[in-house]
Amino acid sequence: MKILAIETSCDETALALMELNKENNTYKVIDHTLYSQIKEHSKFGGVVPFLASRLHSKKLPQMLIDFIHTNGRDIDKIVVTTGPGLSPSLYVGVNQALLLGTAMNIPVESINHLHGHIWSSFIDKNLVGEKPIDNIFPFISILVSGGHTEMILVEKYNSYKVIAKTVDDAVGEAFDKVAKMLDLGYPGGPIVSKLAESGNPEAINFPRPMINSGDGKMSFSGLKTSVLYYLKDNPIIKENNIADICASFEKSVIDVIISKTKWALDKYNPKLITVGGGVIANQELRKAFSNLSSEYNIEFKLPEQSLTTDNAIMIGIVGALNELYDIKEDFRNVDPNWEISE
Ligand code: KG4
Ligand code: ZN
Repeated sequence: MKILAIETSCDETALALMELNKENNTYKVIDHTLYSQIKEHSKFGGVVPFLASRLHSKKLPQMLIDFIHTNGRDIDKIVVTTGPGLSPSLYVGVNQALLLGTAMNIPVESINHLHGHIWSSFIDKNLVGEKPIDNIFPFISILVSGGHTEMILVEKYNSYKVIAKTVDDAVGEAFDKVAKMLDLGYPGGPIVSKLAESGNPEAINFPRPMINSGDGKMSFSGLKTSVLYYLKDNPIIKENNIADICASFEKSVIDVIISKTKWALDKYNPKLITVGGGVIANQELRKAFSNLSSEYNIEFKLPEQSLTTDNAIMIGIVGALNELYDIKEDFRNVDPNWEISE
């Protein structure tokens, strides 16, 4: 069986073709492609929703034509991200999916983008995966992206319960805003983390908001404001110690995430932790999770570096797993605020 996956929820236009084998419960990626709009948005310091949808509309039809030309029409199902994300962007992928599905007389299934990030850790570097064995449940998935920061308890396949969440900014958003304050460009995460490599993480003692709240609540807005005040109070220093600012900010973020992960480990005693979303591209965060994995003697599954930011493979993985778990849900049209647990 072959599944075509389409992802256009934000600023990446992406396709993946999955092949699954129901006999041995495995799936693999046959082909995938991605057009990133980042360059177009970076001049504006962030994603501009209507520019994003215009670029998706411009690129996606030809990408689909080329993809089908290369891989053939032998497709049994289409899966498409229908939320959460930017409404104008989502509509482009969803409309194309529905049109193609009707023309080819094959079903179209809606996929929650966040489920994609959760399951992105479950495919190996050769882009081959399998239906997970039951003893991975319950596991906790930590989502750290530009739009979301939350921890989800996955008690069984397709059962998601949010156990921790940011009360304000997402962690990726905080990286992006700090980069903007420092005039570093967009997206901020990769630039800030690169600069942080040569900085001293102990140089500035930025706050660790809500670190002692005793629950899963996180906050990154106050941290971002502290960086702003620091820059106002130290305008000359700013030029000299950007690397220290980046490293100290990154350290605060990581300290908060690690502390909240410890809280979740103690409270829920999961079998496994997975992490998804663009911020897990961050090497220091990856290292911190690796240390925590040794400390708690628990496996942390992290996605391949290329699957950390948005892509269609992660959407295809959920499409494949839904099939392997025999899950059929009604098509849900565009919902920019689709909650992970709905
Ligand atoms: O998952 P993603 O591609 O899109 C959303 O669904 O939001 O995540 C993008 C976010 C951006 O905020 C970006 O700055 C952040 O991931 N990011 C990073 C790094 N690479 C990307 N944050 C910290 N360190 C990185 N190396
Ligand atoms: Zn994402």
